[in-house]
Amino acid sequence: MDILIRPDAEGVAAAAADILADYARRGATLGLATGSTPLGAYQELIRLYEAGEVSFADSTAFLLDEYVGLAPEHEQSYHHTIRHEFTSHVDFDDSRVHSPDGTAADPWVAAQEYEQAIIDHGGIDVQLLGIGTNGHIAFNEPGAALNGPTHVDTLQPQTIADNSRFFDRPEDVPIHVLTQGLGTIQRAGHLLLLATGEGKADAIAALAEGPLTTMCPASVLQSHPRATVIVDEAAASKLHHRDYHRFVEENKLPRKN
Ligand code: PGA
Repeated sequence: MDILIRPDAEGVAAAAADILADYARRGATLGLATGSTPLGAYQELIRLYEAGEVSFADSTAFLLDEYVGLAPEHEQSYHHTIRHEFTSHVDFDDSRVHSPDGTAADPWVAAQEYEQAIIDHGGIDVQLLGIGTNGHIAFNEPGAALNGPTHVDTLQPQTIADNSRFFDRPEDVPIHVLTQGLGTIQRAGHLLLLATGEGKADAIAALAEGPLTTMCPASVLQSHPRATVIVDEAAASKLHHRDYHRFVEENKLPRKN
């Protein structure tokens, strides 16, 4: 796992956008994430697009997750959010921006269909991830199957509380979700996890320096052959090996691809 430490959230966004833009220039399949953390990277990608430095015309996107019960046009559905925050501001073909069907009559069937759609497409080249304060990635809460597929899950009260800031009332936050599983995520070619702020410092330390355990779902990045974690100083503040991570980055052999 590569851990890149940047001074602040702007530095995290710029580093993430650089990597994602490289993939987009090759027409890659991008795994997109919602939540607050990736917004800076999306803004930077929109800026690069407007400057004529990147195009998404040949890319396809798969979202990580969706709330069960929220229609695509609902303001807080992730279907709507990703368009509002990113894809409708660039030249993404809207029909190639996929997300699990939150209003399917049978969410379990919708989960299977989404997993199959990713497989049929040929998989995800780079998957952008945030991390929950409890170590979740996508909506894989502590206890999730380490190699599970896209599935229906029940949010933890902590996650409902964290996400209630997006809703008028805490009781409006859906309790059930459709989410790519930890197995789905691990089949992506490159995992790119971003975190900013002190509130994420414990989760980042658990991800990078704790045991590989379902109690910290993000720790599966430890076993992925190509995982990049980009954090600001605050989110890195509880890593014991900060200096080593800096040393590794400063002495990195450039990749050929
Ligand atoms: P956040 O959410 O980016 O809004 O902090 C991250 C997550 O829960 O995965």
